[in-house]
Amino acid sequence: MGMNNYRKLLACLLAVVMSMSLLAACGSKKDNDQESAEESAAAQEQTEASEKEADEEEREAERPEIDYLIVVNSNNPVPSDWEEKITLSYTCNSVGDDVYAETRTYKAYLEMKDELEKQGVHVELDSGFRSLAAQQQIIDDFTEKYGASYARTYATAPGYSEHHTGLALDLYLIVDGVTAYENEDLMKYPEVWEKIHALLPDYGFILSYPNNGKTTYEPWHIRYVGKEAAKEITERGITLEAYVAEKG
Ligand code: DAL
Ligand code: ZN
Repeated sequence: MGMNNYRKLLACLLAVVMSMSLLAACGSKKDNDQESAEESAAAQEQTEASEKEADEEEREAERPEIDYLIVVNSNNPVPSDWEEKITLSYTCNSVGDDVYAETRTYKAYLEMKDELEKQGVHVELDSGFRSLAAQQQIIDDFTEKYGASYARTYATAPGYSEHHTGLALDLYLIVDGVTAYENEDLMKYPEVWEKIHALLPDYGFILSYPNNGKTTYEPWHIRYVGKEAAKEITERGITLEAYVAEKG
């Protein structure tokens, strides 16, 4: 190799080395840029989440207090202005149905659901808030499927169902991956209901139709009343109606 060629080779090698180090520098700049972009996106997300939470808390605080002890049953219709007073939360259940429930009730349900998951119990929401038309539809469906007597037993007349308050929820179960949805299937899991019922008062719920021989047992129908009332009603085995009458 002549001296000229040798110089050319050296120059060429130098050029390759320089461009490689330049590329590496770009690469590391890109990595740094990407990392800082990801970090600032995460920080932005965090800020937005905190702002959303704060907004929700503010809305919750501003919301006019509703009477969580309202009594709605076969003798007490839902007040005509009730629906405009409540705020509803929405969810889609595991079978793809839309379900709405009063916001605080729904939050309490989610907290309880979390705890149940830890115990290996999987609950879902079959039903929450119902309009008068939705209640009539249930009566019609039950009548067609099981007859009028069954419908009268398991669905209250429109206007008189606790479901109109948004504070009552019907649960269904997923047991070992199998969905138990129909009433007769739900009755097959007393041990699962026992675990659920044991938690109800801690989350502000009572069982509206307990297994006490006085009413038709509905293990799935729970009613939000707040923790204090739920604990006393459950401990004393009294109805919400009796509790409210006593408290004046
Ligand atoms: N399942 C209860 C009785 C209702 O329809 O309100
Ligand atoms: Zn119900």
